[in-house]
Amino acid sequence: MSASQKTLVLIKPDGVQRLLVGRILSRFEDRGLRIAALKLVSVDRALAETHYAVHAQRPFFAGLVDFITSSPLVAIVLEGPNAIAVVRSMVGATKPHEAGPGTIRGDFGLETAKNLIHASDGEETAAAEIKLWFGANGTIDYPRATDAWILSDEE
Ligand code: PPS
Repeated sequence: MSASQKTLVLIKPDGVQRLLVGRILSRFEDRGLRIAALKLVSVDRALAETHYAVHAQRPFFAGLVDFITSSPLVAIVLEGPNAIAVVRSMVGATKPHEAGPGTIRGDFGLETAKNLIHASDGEETAAAEIKLWFGANGTIDYPRATDAWILSDEE
C-alpha cells in the first residue's frame, strides 16, 4: 500500500513566459496525480524570501528572489501515492544539464537559474510550503471519476 501525499509545485516565471504551463501540468495529470489546489501568483519579496529562506546565505539567493518575483508563477498542490518522490523524479536534477531526458528540466531547461519548476523535497517541506502558498485549509479533496482506474483499493 502506498501512502497518499501532497506536494507543492511552482511553475516558475520562465515556465509561464515560455507558454509551458499546460504542457508541464498535463505531464502530472497524465501520470495520475490529482490537482488539489492551483493559482497564478505575482510573488512579493516577502513570500519569495520566506519560501527560499533555507538558501538565504547562498550566493544565488538575491538573484533567485529577483527571478521568482519578476513575473507571475503558477502554484499547484498535487496529490497521489508517493507524490513527493514521483514529482521530484519527473522534475529532474536541479541543474538542467544533469537532468535526464524525459524529465521536465531535462526536456525544457538549459540553465540552473531558469530551471522552470520547483517541487517540495520532503514531507515536512511539502507541508510547510503548502501552508505558505495556500494557507492551512487551501487544498480541496474531491473524488475523480478516474480514481478507480489509477489508484489501488487500499489508498
Ligand atoms: S544546489 O545544487 O544544491 O544548489 O540545489 P538546491 O539546493 O536544490 O537549490 C536550491 C534552490 O536554488 C536554486 N538554485 C539556483 N538559482 C539560481 N542560480 C543558481 N546558481 C542556483 N543554484 C540553485 C535551485 O533551483 C533551487 O530552487 P528550486 O526552486 O527549489 O528549484
